[in-house]
Amino acid sequence: MTKAFYLTTPLYYVNAAPHIGHSYTNIAADCLARYHRLRGDDVFFLTGTDEHGQKIEQAAKAAGLEPQAFVDGVVKQFESLWKLLNISNDDFIRTTQPRHIRVVQECLRRLQDKLVHKTYTGWYCTPDETYWTDDELQKLGLGANPLCPTCSRPLEYVTEDGWHLPLRGKNQDWLHRFLKAHPGFVQPSTRYNEVMSLLEQPLPEYLSITRPRQRVGWGIEVPFSPQHVTYVWVDALLNYISAVGYLEQPELFQRRWPVDVHFIGKDILRHHTLYWPILLHAMGFADDAMPRLVFAHGWWKVGEQKMSKSLGNIVDPVAVVTQMLADQPFAADVYRYFLLRDVPFGQDGVFSEEALTGRLHADLGNDLGNLVHRTLSMIERYCQGHIPSSPSVDNLDVVGGQRALADAATGLVPILSAAMERIDFSSALEEVFRVVSQANQYVEIAAPWKMAKNVQAAKQLPQVLAVLAETVRIMAIALDPFMPSVAQSIWEQLGMAAAPRRLADVATWPGIRAGQRVGERRVLFPRAPSKPA
Ligand code: MSP
Repeated sequence: MTKAFYLTTPLYYVNAAPHIGHSYTNIAADCLARYHRLRGDDVFFLTGTDEHGQKIEQAAKAAGLEPQAFVDGVVKQFESLWKLLNISNDDFIRTTQPRHIRVVQECLRRLQDKLVHKTYTGWYCTPDETYWTDDELQKLGLGANPLCPTCSRPLEYVTEDGWHLPLRGKNQDWLHRFLKAHPGFVQPSTRYNEVMSLLEQPLPEYLSITRPRQRVGWGIEVPFSPQHVTYVWVDALLNYISAVGYLEQPELFQRRWPVDVHFIGKDILRHHTLYWPILLHAMGFADDAMPRLVFAHGWWKVGEQKMSKSLGNIVDPVAVVTQMLADQPFAADVYRYFLLRDVPFGQDGVFSEEALTGRLHADLGNDLGNLVHRTLSMIERYCQGHIPSSPSVDNLDVVGGQRALADAATGLVPILSAAMERIDFSSALEEVFRVVSQANQYVEIAAPWKMAKNVQAAKQLPQVLAVLAETVRIMAIALDPFMPSVAQSIWEQLGMAAAPRRLADVATWPGIRAGQRVGERRVLFPRAPSKPA
């Protein structure tokens, strides 16, 4: 039995419509999922929504709806965004689904003898649904009326009774040892260091894992304490196992767990690297059954500012794709490309329309679009639309850099694999586009339009075009995880619609059937007509 490559995104709160930050995590996860499918791996890609808790209860109240009716409405916006952005998730879990609720309640039963019943006094951030102890805030130098260290919004002082999981002591020591032994567990390494420095000091003594029902009505009932509901973070984290059959479908669970990558944003690092492994450990998960990797990406900002509702600068992915990029037939792919290419994964980025259209015109229009367009139109013009066959790489002319181009294109597998292994999307794209540029330079040097006019040179022309067509074929495979619709269109334009795209075929040369008829042509990235002055 082979284990599936299992990857997850956070479960998004459904208190409001999705924004660029949510779309970023899903696009990144989708890209890695598609890359693994391209390699032929069995993949299980999970996303979903976090639907309980105080913040959602409040949002429902403000909308004048019952919480369930409210979340049922908002969840549709997430589902339709994932469709618009070509997100290929294999499952979509909602924390209000019975399959999840059953598992959460059973996990709580199993944890019960590890829990302490006591009163918690400290601070609560409702927007982040996160507790902060006086100690933690003091260490951060926050005074009498502290703001949330993560989101800078006001905290609420709470005193509430509930069930608590000890963090400090044995659990902290275990996690410290585990992380020392698994430095790859958290990436990028700056985030690993951040977690280690938290662990080098005493953690808060307990994690509260319940909330009093009279304070929060909208949550999963604690089976042994009906006056409490499950703390929304504990509820949400457990989705990563409830969705893959924990306790209910042992065979399925064995095939998927442990998870290979949890994609998260850097603001929810503590929840995924402290609370989550400790919860799993407390439930009896062995060290080799811990998640393999938590990757925390950076934040998208607008100018120097964080996005926020109050500043009114939230970037709406639907508006970017359907309005800003309205003239683009592959608008979702342009957006995907921009997010994955413009900022090294892990760092913060700044979103602007200028940066987006800059990438669209330069990398996509002038480089990739141009290469595909000129290659196929020359095959139509000089070869009546039939792709000439290329000799094997070893038998290519050295003239005009044919061999160098073929080597660069066919050599992409280990380079792409290394970048994707590091979850370094921008470098992977940079490498692919290096080959695109090299191919365009090759066109300039070979100048097929001149060759066609000279009887002697014209004999070499089919081979020049074959080399270009093979390079374009390889680009379509390599770009598949990043821009799936563009890749599909290039594939169809090469007349290869019926063939699958497989990573291994990047190294195959030639890979196009001799004489293959090109498909119907399509402009990939049209230039908007310049507006009249
Ligand atoms: N519900 C929790 C996650 C539970 S996972 C078991 C949650 N939800 S969230 O909707 O608030 O945020 C989800 C993700 O969006 C987080 O990973 C967060 O980092 C990411 N982003 C929110 N704003 C962002 C940006 N401006 N930029 C990039 N990502 C950011 O937290």
